[in-house]
Amino acid sequence: MGEPTNRSSTAPLYTQLPYPGDGVVRTTSARILREGMRRLAPALLSKADLRIADVGCGTGEATAGLARIFPNARIVGIDVNPASLELARRLADRSKLNLTFVRCDISEPVLDALCAASVLGRNAASNPAERFDVVTSMGVLHHLADPAAGFSHVRSIIREDGLFQVYVYSRTGRREVLAVRDLLDRFLPADAFDRRARTVRVLRLSRKHTLIDGLQTLRRRLRFGPPFRLMEIIRVALRRNRLTHVSDTFSNPCEHSFLFEELLAIFARTGWDFAGLAKRGGLPVTPEEHTRDPQALEALRALPPAVLCDLLAFHYRAAGWTFFLRPAEVVGDATESASRLARC
Ligand SMILES: C[S@@+](CC[C@H](N)C(=O)[O-])C[C@H]1O[C@@H](n2cnc3c(N)ncnc32)[C@H](O)[C@@H]1O
Repeated sequence: MGEPTNRSSTAPLYTQLPYPGDGVVRTTSARILREGMRRLAPALLSKADLRIADVGCGTGEATAGLARIFPNARIVGIDVNPASLELARRLADRSKLNLTFVRCDISEPVLDALCAASVLGRNAASNPAERFDVVTSMGVLHHLADPAAGFSHVRSIIREDGLFQVYVYSRTGRREVLAVRDLLDRFLPADAFDRRARTVRVLRLSRKHTLIDGLQTLRRRLRFGPPFRLMEIIRVALRRNRLTHVSDTFSNPCEHSFLFEELLAIFARTGWDFAGLAKRGGLPVTPEEHTRDPQALEALRALPPAVLCDLLAFHYRAAGWTFFLRPAEVVGDATESASRLARC
């Protein structure tokens, strides 16, 4: 396969600061995926030759987690950034995990490229049954210039009975981060990662990445799961590269954030059915999980489901949602521009 050109405006960030880059195998999103499969696509769990793609795998920590939770699956990590893939391959070697990593740009059609690289069978283009059973893409599609194109390209590499696990930013949940970014943009260049991170810390512009934020996340995880793996948490806390995380949050050169209604429109025109929020993703998914107050419950139950999603993200200051999609018919123009609030 010819090397794709990395035209993504996120290239300078992830080349300088490959994400997450700490080399700690994480199983959280793999466990969330397993729960989603149990609930929404149980037949896939017992499939002998399960094929999973991790789109935008970064430095491979979560891809390695997939290999731990699905030891018999064939797992492929896909990313556009060579520096990240290099670290991902080293992590897989070190952890003795059988993983394949491929350089691919998900903002472009990728099916032919994956067939040419023998990641998918030669007939996958004409025969959807030869495509991936499961695709996961955590924190990636909102960084594409056109996220709808990403949803559409993932649609082209999944089987018709497959399941797609995806995490994208919520505009209501990220309201504070967006305000801080606006401020920084007025006096610091977008690529001054170090100075921007220092400014956030010294001027205490945000509670994100502070001890309080960490404790709140911990509380949410204890309440809504998935259960902690203590050693993973400790190792991530010790090895976490602060500059990488702060820059990903406050200085990403390209990001979109969504109201849930906007996402539903993208799913409809890129060929996806919304199957449900991840049951355990550090957020409640039903009014009953959120509150026992009868008045609040009545008000929440009366809301349209998409507004409930925005409201819960707002309440918990959750950067985004993890949810599941099932392939459906493509009914619109997937190339329409995606979000009004793009920063690319
Ligand atoms: C925030 S990181 C997420 C990494 C990983 N999914 C995780 O959760 O740890 C975003 C990743 O998306 C990748 N990415 C951005 N644009 C991409 C594209 N067009 N095609 C493939 N990967 C892309 C970046 O290189 C980066 O590794």
